[in-house]
Amino acid sequence: MSKELMQEKITKAQKEIEAKKDMIKMGRMRQHYHFMAQTGWLNDPNGLIYYKGKYHFFFQYNPYYGFWDYMHWGHAVSGDLVHWEYLPLALAPSEEYDDHMRGGCFSGSAIEHDGKLFLMYTGTTHNGQGYEQTQCIAYSEDGIHFEKYAGNPVLTAPEGVAKEHFRDPKVWKHEDTYYMVCGASREGRAQALLYRSKDMLHWNFFNVMAESRGEWGFMWECTDFYPLGEKYVLMFSPMGSGEHTAIYQVGDFDYGTGRFYAHISGEIDWGFDYYAPQSFQAPDGRRLIVGWANEWEWMPLWKDWGPTYREGWCGFFNIPREVRMMEDGSLQFLPAAEFQTIRKNPEQADMILVSEEEKELAAGDGVSFELKFKIDLEETDARSVELSLRSGEGKRTVCLFDFKTAEFRVDRNESDGWSRGISRSVMYLKGKKELDVHIFSDQSSLEIFTDRYQNNHSNNIFASDSQNRLWIRAYGGKAVVKEYESWGLGECFA
Ligand code: FRU
Repeated sequence: MSKELMQEKITKAQKEIEAKKDMIKMGRMRQHYHFMAQTGWLNDPNGLIYYKGKYHFFFQYNPYYGFWDYMHWGHAVSGDLVHWEYLPLALAPSEEYDDHMRGGCFSGSAIEHDGKLFLMYTGTTHNGQGYEQTQCIAYSEDGIHFEKYAGNPVLTAPEGVAKEHFRDPKVWKHEDTYYMVCGASREGRAQALLYRSKDMLHWNFFNVMAESRGEWGFMWECTDFYPLGEKYVLMFSPMGSGEHTAIYQVGDFDYGTGRFYAHISGEIDWGFDYYAPQSFQAPDGRRLIVGWANEWEWMPLWKDWGPTYREGWCGFFNIPREVRMMEDGSLQFLPAAEFQTIRKNPEQADMILVSEEEKELAAGDGVSFELKFKIDLEETDARSVELSLRSGEGKRTVCLFDFKTAEFRVDRNESDGWSRGISRSVMYLKGKKELDVHIFSDQSSLEIFTDRYQNNHSNNIFASDSQNRLWIRAYGGKAVVKEYESWGLGECFA
């Protein structure tokens, strides 16, 4: 019965997608190589998994229009993480516990169990007494068609936890036991709750894995947990923690007690548009993460979701990043190597002398490109280096590397007549001989990696095609740029 109900909702949504997708594909703000949905609204990455020879991305999805509402799970598969094939929606709101216009099938994760693909997600509903969130299960034999478990919900909020803040289960297996961490809010403080199960269906509370003492907000969205080398990593997107959007902590974990002891906290990304990252493991063992390229309206630096709703869509993922650990235990986030396969039209220079006079740089068509270089700090005496990206028609996005204040900024106040704000972070320059810079530009976004991939800014901008020029200059002296390399990046959503 319930199976048919969900199928009806999925069929209805698929019809809508079929009717609109060709039109939406023509939108001039559509990305060339960042993952997007075919129509409508996309937010968090969900259920990321390598399963039976393919990468599966699921995503928070409203197929009907370019705003958040009525959450479904979209679904796509890929052999290479770069080119994607869309599959029918995996989940649609259909049951008492997940069928609400301002609710639905919220974020969650995927795992293989018993030869099937299992999804664990948050059902969000409202029965007249506030929003209620519970954890639910769905499974599939073929990895395409899913069925909700008749025993749903498998978990309700424990005593003392706000029932509207109990969500985003992330599941993994250790030895013969399944574990799940989810975000919760207890007495105004954020917590990561840990549960255990032997069969993926019956779950028991284990411990409060980690919690905010106020410094990390009142609720953690999209908690994630995984081993890295000898250590463990906890990631979360905090609500009520100022400008922070995506945090990682590195520490030790004890499977005997279910407690995580954090030694280090850091920022996964300093930009305006990096939220709710989820991790998964590639078949070669790499730990990859994918984040949603936007932020919520409750965040202090939020402007809006951008103008793409006019084209009937909104939302994309930032490119997958590989997580690596430095010797001191802090983390680096490197663009996944797979994106090297779409490089074309290479440009290269061993050395570029940069002065106060603007110099033009070449990179692909100036819209969809990748750019890498190093600033030689020993040979540079300038106070700062400025890079103008997506320049033209009197507009540009300015990246400023200020060596005096050790600040890196990305200014989008002149980007496109729409976007606003300056994202800022501190560069770690002490004892460094060079500063590495790596940029991914797509139709509607810029991802900038610097400082050994520890200092990253993802910002959406909605520049026109004629904003396709790239300039560099120095202030207060000269700068030496070396190992300059750039490429155009190919179309993955043709
Ligand atoms: C994070 C989030 C999740 C929730 C989902 C709803 O961006 O708010 O906590 O499950 O989005 O779409």
